[in-house]
Amino acid sequence: MSGALVKDIAYVRIVTSNFVESIDFAVNVLGLEISFKDKNKAYLRSDNRYCTICYEYGVNSEQVVGFEIDGPNELRVATNALEERGVPLRWGTREECAERHVEEFISFSDPSGNMIEMVTYPEYTGRRHYPSRDAGITKFSHVGLFSKDPRSDQDFWCSIFNGRVSDWAGQIALLRFNEVHHTLALTPREESGIHHINFQVESIDDVMRSYYFLRERGTKIIFGPGRHPTSSAVFLYFQGPDNLVYEYSCGVRSILDEEGHRPRQFSRSNWGACLWGARPNGFLPDG
Ligand SMILES: [Fe+2]
Repeated sequence: MSGALVKDIAYVRIVTSNFVESIDFAVNVLGLEISFKDKNKAYLRSDNRYCTICYEYGVNSEQVVGFEIDGPNELRVATNALEERGVPLRWGTREECAERHVEEFISFSDPSGNMIEMVTYPEYTGRRHYPSRDAGITKFSHVGLFSKDPRSDQDFWCSIFNGRVSDWAGQIALLRFNEVHHTLALTPREESGIHHINFQVESIDDVMRSYYFLRERGTKIIFGPGRHPTSSAVFLYFQGPDNLVYEYSCGVRSILDEEGHRPRQFSRSNWGACLWGARPNGFLPDG
């Protein structure tokens, strides 16, 4: 394994003109808890961390994914590697670090133009989150990002950082940074941005309870319920404000045999995305 050590995903920051609607959805549908809110910013938590989703009011939408890197030395290893490769980057100001409740961070774009922040020491609260809607969320777990060329972009994540390919589902590259099957899913599309935001829930009962809850309140179900053959996770994808897609899943596979694991190429048909036969209906690429 080489590259600067990314420990886990830390947060997403969404700049949106649908600020109030986004917070309402996060609290009353998704099942997150507000850590802090003023008229322009809201920090929400889904586990024992201070913030895993931040919504900011803004006319020009912006989507940023934050990852926790393993301390200041690893951040400097990453910075050097990015600079060597000619990737422009910027250090966060003291004020920006305070706002994010992190020690330090750099921001840069991945080769497909996705905005990334690598942070050190994001704040943990020491207590689990306490939502007003109990969706059974245990952890903010991964994101899907659009990629102009997943096979090429995976090398960026696997050389500058410690990404490893766990599997491919069609053209989608599923990358891990720890033992969890994937923390980042690179999904082909000729644009940048977030494809989906995943929260782990405790059990299949939570997935199915939410399925009926969401259907009843008229939330658009995008894909599922189903089970991914790659990670074994039971999943449900649904749509929130700004057409952002959120996912609940449970039972994601851990890869403990780091040396022995070889990535597998799963089917390019629908069956590569769902063992049970749920149809992605355009949410995932056909080929
Ligand atoms: Fe996912």
